Amino acid sequence: MKVLSLVNMKGGVAKTTLAVNLADVLNRREGKRVLLIDIDPQFNATQCIMNGNSYKEYLSNKGYTVLDVFNDTPLSVVSSVNGTTTIPPKKIEEIIPYNIRNGFDLLPGALELHRLEMGSGQGKEMRLRNYINHLRTNDLFDWVIIDTPPTPSAWMSAALIASDYYLTPVRPEPLSATGIDLLRVVVNGITSNYGLNLSCLGVVLTMAEENTIVFSDAVDFIDNNTYWKGKRISKSLPKRTAIARGQGNQSFILDLDDHDLNISMSRITKEVIERAEA
Ligand SMILES: Nc1ncnc2c1ncn2[C@@H]1O[C@H](COP(=O)(O)OP(=O)(O)OP(=O)(O)O)[C@@H](O)[C@H]1O
Ligand SMILES: [Mg+2]
Repeated sequence: MKVLSLVNMKGGVAKTTLAVNLADVLNRREGKRVLLIDIDPQFNATQCIMNGNSYKEYLSNKGYTVLDVFNDTPLSVVSSVNGTTTIPPKKIEEIIPYNIRNGFDLLPGALELHRLEMGSGQGKEMRLRNYINHLRTNDLFDWVIIDTPPTPSAWMSAALIASDYYLTPVRPEPLSATGIDLLRVVVNGITSNYGLNLSCLGVVLTMAEENTIVFSDAVDFIDNNTYWKGKRISKSLPKRTAIARGQGNQSFILDLDDHDLNISMSRITKEVIERAEA
């Protein structure tokens, strides 16, 4: 089982878009058993999969969310769906994700993550790794893809602690490209703090307009940077407004009638698999 986190400390670089669509393509085209985990309190990945009503229904039927992974004390929650309720802590083994289709599951995100105290040193950030170890022991999935928030938070640490690899989406623009050096410093800090065996699987250029100067500058920056050299995934994700529109009605990239986009997403996924299996 391979565990991959999508990380960048910059917001809006397509972490969620890549997480959701990598998971979809790994399952739909590559026949892998995939779990997508949404640990971003904004829960955008969840909203790309479930519409508002299905998510509310899922919560009112007491469906499990990522909150159950992190929460180890009874947590009282006020929500428009259930009023005030107390969520009891769950055992790792009882947490069952939401089934999207055969071989594709989602552990949905939860807004209440904001309310959970996650000071470092409390051990909560190890709970995601414990959950993933349980999935691994029981051979439940081939791939686990984790979507993370754009801030160096306890959630991001938890994701990296639980991961074998990380993949970094970058927007081809000067500040975004140079910003990944800061990401490297943060990731290296977490890696050495926790003694992790974590490797960078690659950098994906997203929202790409390949015939522009900013695009070729971003390519040059990554290809010539001492640390990121050789890490660039050769196919980039083209810029298309249809992606955002599709996400509004829970469509994946493969569902859009756009050959180039489908090919790009499929090639990116193949390269991710090749690198992880190398
Ligand atoms: N290739 C693309 N072309 C055009 N728009 C895109 C593309 N990929 C993603 N988007 C849109 O850009 C916005 C940001 O993408 P996304 O939410 O995936 O980024 P993110 O890095 O997860 O953001 P955040 O840091 O807030 O979590 C979304 O509206 C998404 O639909
Ligand atoms: Mg996101």
